[in-house]
Amino acid sequence: MQIPSLSLVDTIDSSTGVLVVPVRGGETPALLSGDNLGLTPERLSALGVTGKAGSTQRILVAAGDAERPALLVGLGEERTLEALRRAAGAAARALKTEAGLVVLVDDASADELEALALGAALGAHAFDRYRSTPKDEEPTPAERTVALVGAGQEAQRAIERAQVLAEAVALARDLGNTPANDLVPEDVAQLAADVVAELPVEIDVWDEQRLLDEACGGLIGVGQGSANPPRLVHLEYAPEGAKRHIALVGKGITFDTGGISLKPAASMLGMKYDMSGAGSVIATVVAAARLGLPVRLSGYCCLAENMPSSTALKPDDVLVLRGGTSVEVTNTDAEGRLVLADGLVLASEAKPDLIIDIATLTGAQVVALGNRTTGVMGNDDAQTAAIVAAGERTGETMWAMPIPEELEERLESNVADLVNSKPGDRSAGMLFAAAFLERFVGEDADGAPIPWIHLDIAGPSENGGGAYGYTPKGATGVPVRTLVELLSQDA
Ligand code: BES
Ligand code: ZN
Ligand code: ZN
Repeated sequence: MQIPSLSLVDTIDSSTGVLVVPVRGGETPALLSGDNLGLTPERLSALGVTGKAGSTQRILVAAGDAERPALLVGLGEERTLEALRRAAGAAARALKTEAGLVVLVDDASADELEALALGAALGAHAFDRYRSTPKDEEPTPAERTVALVGAGQEAQRAIERAQVLAEAVALARDLGNTPANDLVPEDVAQLAADVVAELPVEIDVWDEQRLLDEACGGLIGVGQGSANPPRLVHLEYAPEGAKRHIALVGKGITFDTGGISLKPAASMLGMKYDMSGAGSVIATVVAAARLGLPVRLSGYCCLAENMPSSTALKPDDVLVLRGGTSVEVTNTDAEGRLVLADGLVLASEAKPDLIIDIATLTGAQVVALGNRTTGVMGNDDAQTAAIVAAGERTGETMWAMPIPEELEERLESNVADLVNSKPGDRSAGMLFAAAFLERFVGEDADGAPIPWIHLDIAGPSENGGGAYGYTPKGATGVPVRTLVELLSQDA
């Protein structure tokens, strides 16, 4: 994992590194540092400093009798937590040749310190495992340090929390970025075992034989075309005194070719990210355990590689999924919902208070909401609203979408209980997938549906454009921070 180490310092000296000072924009740009560092409004204006979000300027500022290097970074017009995270991230990216940086914001609250630290760490994160030559003289992200100016126990806790969150997001990003030739289902399972080894988390990995014995027809069916067999990873974090029991179910397709319903070449590019849901489940369980959150968490990663071959699933095939529901496969590229169905049934068997599934499920999500907004669907409006609100606080934007009842009849099959897609009809593809998944959400002890949230992260899991704020190119780690935020409410 390549991220800097974060620390709290009470004063700055020349050894701490380049000074980073956010500047609020507006008519008269203003430093967030009380000490104006010799920068009068006239000087700021002469330097062309606007405070525009994400803008950066390297300058020298007065420090006693000497001068020291500093970076002014634009915050935009409002001092929100997200603006601070993004400014710190932009600063960390602009200073990637520097080993040390120190962020100076006067009167920063603990939440603001956490935002600055997290933004800087995430902006500095890089996935450079495959570069044969290190960039000249450039420190690796792990060799870098980020110091925040502040004091007190609350501030210290905020920095520690930022470190845990940044490492969890970096883990999810690294998993997403790793190409499928180095990350088959068994590799994900092994990695999950490695990262929880020292934590109070139990792990159980089901191999192909066990999946057959346990009647997980979705995982078996989707995985049967690949030389790399499917796996189910079950993680269990059950602290004493847990207030709620939440199950997380992640789509973990380590590569999605589409199977026999093969994707065109251009659409296949990037399908290494199709395990991002499972990656976010692993990262969230790790973060929750490290933070000691008082919530019981059951994680289910549904791992398979979707390949075309003589043993692969075919259109028209019928699968019997865990729990006995039969599905006519009308498109082998709608594989995510098949493996998730097994996961949802398994999660339901444990009768948790809430099930959240996370999946790069549909191209229709990208069409509807774009690359930065997660689609949220489910069977419980209050739970949906709670996660959308958590996403607002973390800066991981989410938007609630309906599961219209008229889609129910479109799920009907001539030969089985359900179809997995509606061929030739691209309308409401994201919502149809949610309607399919809902059929696999079980009931609580009183016979009521278990509250369930479905997150379609097809777009937001990857940043295909340029880096911005604390988000680099490639895997983003969405929605790990929002999940941790939601779980933290029980603390
Ligand atoms: N993994 C894809 C969804 C996807 C598309 C993720 C683009 C990220 C970016 C999924 O398995 C898929 O192929 N879905 C199909 C479903 C269709 C066949 C009903 C889709 O969205 O086209
Ligand atoms: Zn697919
Ligand atoms: Zn897929």
